[in-house]
Amino acid sequence: MTFRSDTVRVAVVGTGAIARHGHLPALAALAAEQPLEVVAACDVDAGSVAAFCREAGVPHAYTDHDLMLAERRPDLVVLCTPPRFHRDQTVAALRAGAWVWCEKPPCPSLADFDAMEAAEGAGPGPGPYAAIVFQHRFGSGARHVGRLLARGALGRPLVAHCQTTWYRDADYYAVPWRGRWDTEGGGTSMGHGIHQMDLLLDLLGPWEEIRAMAGRLVHDVETEDVSTALVRFAGGALATVVNSVLSPDEVSRVRIDCERATVELTHLYGYGNADWRITPAPGVDPEEAARWRDFGPDEPSSHLAQLRGLLADLRAGRRPRGSGPDGRKSLELVTALYKSAFTGAAVRAGDIGPGDPFHTSLHGGTPGWAPATASSPAAIPSPAAAGGTAAAREEAAR
Ligand SMILES: NC(=O)c1ccc[n+]([C@@H]2O[C@H](COP(=O)([O-])OP(=O)(O)OC[C@H]3O[C@@H](n4cnc5c(N)ncnc54)[C@H](O)[C@@H]3O)[C@@H](O)[C@H]2O)c1
Repeated sequence: MTFRSDTVRVAVVGTGAIARHGHLPALAALAAEQPLEVVAACDVDAGSVAAFCREAGVPHAYTDHDLMLAERRPDLVVLCTPPRFHRDQTVAALRAGAWVWCEKPPCPSLADFDAMEAAEGAGPGPGPYAAIVFQHRFGSGARHVGRLLARGALGRPLVAHCQTTWYRDADYYAVPWRGRWDTEGGGTSMGHGIHQMDLLLDLLGPWEEIRAMAGRLVHDVETEDVSTALVRFAGGALATVVNSVLSPDEVSRVRIDCERATVELTHLYGYGNADWRITPAPGVDPEEAARWRDFGPDEPSSHLAQLRGLLADLRAGRRPRGSGPDGRKSLELVTALYKSAFTGAAVRAGDIGPGDPFHTSLHGGTPGWAPATASSPAAIPSPAAAGGTAAAREEAAR
């Protein structure tokens, strides 16, 4: 065992919406199954962390992350802070010997991710490791379809669609850390679309090349509110990717056309088995297709499903899914999407490394997309320049 006792001692850092509504229920459910205790919570907002501890029965509230690590020595830190803090808080927790489960998006740049990865493995045994929350990989539907694809039952994947078309209003972007590169890390591609893109990568394997466009059509933000991309996978499949916060009829969708069947997942923020559809190609034996459609017991995609696996890995001292290269891959695709959109060039996997401006920031310093500075005060283009209209912007602000 790599942790200090049979009971896994957890600290929750950042006690806002996702900590309350995603992590606490998952932690409570798992505490009923196995020795697990939430020993501390930490937030820079003293009122928030005090209320969180009171309501969840957590014994120790902190406003200082380092002090919490030193005094409580947790086995696992669940990081639910805004993305700009993910790198430093992950590194601090790993150095203190704790495993980390860090909310998506992982961190604002590949350089930040590399720093997080470099801090892994500092403990006496295997680990500690830092995994990213990518809960959509972990439902029974993704597991079943992943197995069908991996054993070639559906034939070669040929064509894919990956769609995160959501709707966010001006109030959503009124939260100070949203819509800015340095605090949110990116726009809708990074903040919302990364979930479906991560699932697509998990199902289809490595990508090879991306060509993308991005627009800031409605919201008064630094980042994009829509992006589109074409992706070629190493296995040959061609995919379209659409990410938007401008879509009143909201949907999350992953669709993969294979030689022997089309697989389609349609949901919004999470799925169950019933949200998957498998349509066989003409000529497929109906009995075989019926077996494909038997997904087994329904385990919805959720924080609970991923955390259950992470705790098993922690107890066994195994690298968890969503950590290291497996946690980096969707951040690399998103980074390449931005680089392609802002430079107009195709970007290949592995292209973005140290020395590339997109390695250290998702905007890559691109005029018109990088935050305004003293030397370029008018860096943010008008919506019209980005492809939208002033009327659309005014209407959205109302
Ligand atoms: N996996 C998902 O489906 C999902 C859904 C929503 C949000 N998220 C992610 O979770 C993270 C938090 O989002 P949220 O919606 O809960 O935000 P939130 O604003 O509701 O909560 C963030 C909390 O972090 C606290 N905080 C800020 N800086 C801090 C610091 N330096 N140290 C400690 N605490 C600090 C804030 O006071 C706040 O209480 C983001 O990365 C977001 O993208 C993931």
